[in-house]
Amino acid sequence: MDKMWSGRFSASASSLLDQFNASIMYDRKLYKEDIEGSLAHAAMLAKQGILTTEELVAITNGLNQVLKEIESGEFEWKISDEDLHMGIEKRLTALIGDAGKKLHTARSRNDQVAVDFRRYVLRKNLEIVDAIKAMMQEVLVVAQKHTETLIPGMTHLQHAQPINFGFHLGAYLSMFKRDIERFESSYQRNNVSPLGCAALAGTPHDVDREMTAELLGFESVSVNCLDTVSDRDFALEILFNISTMMMHISRLSEELVLWSSYEFGFVELSDEYSTGSSIMPQKKNPDVPELLRGKTGRVYGSLIGLLTVMKGLPLAYNKDTQEDKEGVFDAVETAEISLEILKEAIKTMEVKADNMESACAVGHLSATDLADYLVEKCGIPFREAHFITGRAVAKGEELHIDLSKMEFKDLKEIDTRINEDVMEYLGLRHSMNARTSQGGTSSERTKEQLEYFKTYLQGEKA
Ligand code: ARG
Repeated sequence: MDKMWSGRFSASASSLLDQFNASIMYDRKLYKEDIEGSLAHAAMLAKQGILTTEELVAITNGLNQVLKEIESGEFEWKISDEDLHMGIEKRLTALIGDAGKKLHTARSRNDQVAVDFRRYVLRKNLEIVDAIKAMMQEVLVVAQKHTETLIPGMTHLQHAQPINFGFHLGAYLSMFKRDIERFESSYQRNNVSPLGCAALAGTPHDVDREMTAELLGFESVSVNCLDTVSDRDFALEILFNISTMMMHISRLSEELVLWSSYEFGFVELSDEYSTGSSIMPQKKNPDVPELLRGKTGRVYGSLIGLLTVMKGLPLAYNKDTQEDKEGVFDAVETAEISLEILKEAIKTMEVKADNMESACAVGHLSATDLADYLVEKCGIPFREAHFITGRAVAKGEELHIDLSKMEFKDLKEIDTRINEDVMEYLGLRHSMNARTSQGGTSSERTKEQLEYFKTYLQGEKA
């Protein structure tokens, strides 16, 4: 009968219940948030005259002692204590006696866990932002080196139009910037203090919620206690934010896998971030992007898992919500290592610009340019120009020659309105540089876009 809540019970909890019910083996990760929350709560209770100065001193010293014990590994985490809140409070009371028993005045584990977990998630939103920025910086370095490097732009994984590699990477920079904005907006929206909500309805004690909010670094105090103790939107948001970010990372990873193949040969990942085969001595495998792609699945799993936990819960706190933590911890740790290793893989990979450019020599990448030429120079309506260009492509296929290399006489045969100046339009570099519309692929426009990301990453308003 050593439970804190054992008053109304006459028999001890079974050890099976302890095992099933406990969260202490994983929520102990929140020990710092929990102790800081208790320190703030105690300071507020003392200011309000609910604790004496002596009691506050005893609690403060006691909590600092518990913190030391946890950090040195001395602290004994016991499954029978159920969760970190009770484990810590129990140790505090063992250390300081009766004053420890007053700490829980005007508080419940329901607002306590909401404080701890919310603060962890808020902090992780910001740390992940920093990690995304560091990774983007390496993508930017590669992009800036390759604003003149031609690569086939694709749709349906088929050659479409020539673009440059810097522009291609700029697309990922755009995605990662949106990811950052999502983490930042979640941080702002969820930056409200649950402390003082107690079990669900608030408390009759004269608490100062503004004071604890400020001590804990929250922007403001939550509005409705019933909502606050059962709200896990902040956890869902970080799971969604990580899921979307991992989806972007996974798309880039898919391209890295393709690009590392013999068939593409666009990049070679460094030895440091590649692996070998246990049977085929010649193999150099892109395990890093493959795992990044694969790990995206478990993050989605955590998001769907928590959405499902939450969907049928009546107000307010229900024990189901204890299932919120492991998925979030796992997703956060997956995000952290994924961003770190992606950054290193990008930084150390070799870009095979020659192979990218030679890949542009097939697939009639400048076909749209011929159609545009017919519209612009010959006054032919686009639909007709499209058809004529189709004829030219068919001729190229027949002659086994790419449109960009076709001879003028062969084109003239298709439509007599075509003049010699068409040859310039068919060049691949010309095609890429002709796309000067805002956000387009021309080297100049690409440089402009990369400058935007550079300014953004430097922390100035882009
Ligand atoms: N370990 C619990 C959780 O993670 C803490 C809150 C428990 N509150 C309660 N009344 N059982 O959600």
